[in-house]
Amino acid sequence: MMPEIGPVLVPAGEIQRKVRELGERITRDYAGQNLLLVGILRGAFVVLSDLIRQIEIPCEVDFMEVSSYGAGTTSSGVVRILKDLEEDISGRHVLIVEDIIDTGLTLSYLRRSLLARKPASLEICALLSKPARRQVDIQVRYQGFEVPDVFVVGYGIDYAGFYRNLRDIYALKQP
Ligand code: XMP
Ligand code: MG
Repeated sequence: MMPEIGPVLVPAGEIQRKVRELGERITRDYAGQNLLLVGILRGAFVVLSDLIRQIEIPCEVDFMEVSSYGAGTTSSGVVRILKDLEEDISGRHVLIVEDIIDTGLTLSYLRRSLLARKPASLEICALLSKPARRQVDIQVRYQGFEVPDVFVVGYGIDYAGFYRNLRDIYALKQP
């Protein structure tokens, strides 16, 4: 049985406003440079597609897909790369775009792995963060919203593959 969605946590209008603001900051911060946006599949594809249209400097896009080893919905910190970048990132300005940071283990692994490829710079943009669940300290330069420790869906973020198409972000209804 598919769990029902509960209350709206972040309405579509607020998401759009925040994404615009993040895009403006990125445009200012990287002025005069080229940027490579790295979307983490699959959840980040929606925020990435809105964000890129708010960025007014030359930018390219690439994707990675990762999966956390281990059972259940909690991240183990051991990350398997299911799809690697097509691009060589050495000497380039790279911005990782993620849907949500939970424990921080996935991004901290990805950060280490991409830094080893010697980019000119590497920063993180995450639409959502659950600070209550953080296990490792991770610097997120471009952060959208903080959400409580509930399972969220919508705007690219799924439950069992579904709900990515919702325009707002919701909490799943607790059973
Ligand atoms: P960590 O714990 O490594 O995990 O920061 C980040 C990844 O976990 C997924 N995640 C969620 N996915 N609703 C989801 O659909 C959630 O509430 C949620 N919390 C974490 C997400 O894929 C992220 O990439
Ligand atoms: Mg994800």
